[in-house]
Amino acid sequence: MSVDLRTRYLGLELKHPIVASASPMTGSIDSLKRLQAAGVAAVVLPSLFEEQIEHEEMATHDLMLQGAELSPEVHGFFPDVQNLHSGPEQYLALIADAKKLLSVPVIASLNGHTPGGWTGIARKFEDAGADAIELNVYFLATGIDDSSAVVEQRYVDLVESVTQQVKIPVAVKVAPYFSAMANMAARLTKAGASGLVLFNRFLQPDIDLEELEVSPRLVLSTSDELRLALRWIAILRGRIKTSLAATGGAHTTDDVLKLLLAGADCVMLASSLLAHGAGHVGTLVRGVQDWMSEREYTSVEQMKGSLSQESCPDPDAFERANYMKALKSYTSEFV
Ligand SMILES: Cc1cc2nc3c(=O)[nH]c(=O)nc-3n(C[C@H](O)[C@H](O)[C@H](O)COP(=O)(O)O)c2cc1C
Repeated sequence: MSVDLRTRYLGLELKHPIVASASPMTGSIDSLKRLQAAGVAAVVLPSLFEEQIEHEEMATHDLMLQGAELSPEVHGFFPDVQNLHSGPEQYLALIADAKKLLSVPVIASLNGHTPGGWTGIARKFEDAGADAIELNVYFLATGIDDSSAVVEQRYVDLVESVTQQVKIPVAVKVAPYFSAMANMAARLTKAGASGLVLFNRFLQPDIDLEELEVSPRLVLSTSDELRLALRWIAILRGRIKTSLAATGGAHTTDDVLKLLLAGADCVMLASSLLAHGAGHVGTLVRGVQDWMSEREYTSVEQMKGSLSQESCPDPDAFERANYMKALKSYTSEFV
């Protein structure tokens, strides 16, 4: 039986739901071409960071001040940023080259946390040919005086300041750590987001017991992480009018199918591509097609969201009642 795998995400038609998420796999033209040859439906470029844009502005400012005495503290103010080797110009060139050489949609990614002048770069992304923008809001509210209301408003302001600059769709990638996720999703939509990418995965620091120091540790995901996005996509599907992309923990055909049944418009992959290479895309697409054909689904559009909270026979399964049932039903040979 033939299966129509097409899906719509951010108003773009994708030939199937498997998208390469922002990662080093999407950071060069060579690997982008490999991903396209492997059959990926769209690519999200790695993020350009707010700090990289501001660093460039600062470098211009430094040039203007050449000859003036600058204290070492001023130069030492951006130690990490010195290591970010590519700036806005290289990034815009990557967008333009990707658009020239690929036929799949190219989504450019912007990573930041404060509304401000730097968001003007969004218009340059559009001019360089990006089909859409993914705004990755990476912010940890560590300040004792940062109330959730203030932090949430900052997200909304940031999304407005980007969406107001461009005509292309903007998806917002957020972390799951909101007290009221559903309300926040609705507010981001109202602020102009055409899509939500659920969820951002924060880098967790670790402690090195040998060296007795704190070290950042980037660990690839496993399928165990999938269920966070699964739950929220299922809850939000049908309640807000944005596209929903799943990111975090999609590795196998089963993972992709579950996310589609929950209501994802597309499934983004980073860890599984970094672990298995671009060819993994083909394995997943074939796996999805075979499963759908066996179950007599004719299209992804028909299948999408059929187990979302509003469609599934047991809506409690996504809520507190299920927590109680799960705890009570847990068995172990040691109890
Ligand atoms: C090495 C690496 C680099 C990443 N770089 C970015 C980035 O530049 N921008 C971004 O939004 N997400 C970035 N991510 C996050 C991924 O796009 C993805 O959201 C996350 O890894 C969860 O998906 P996964 O389980 O498929 O890995 C990166 C992830 C990895 C592993």
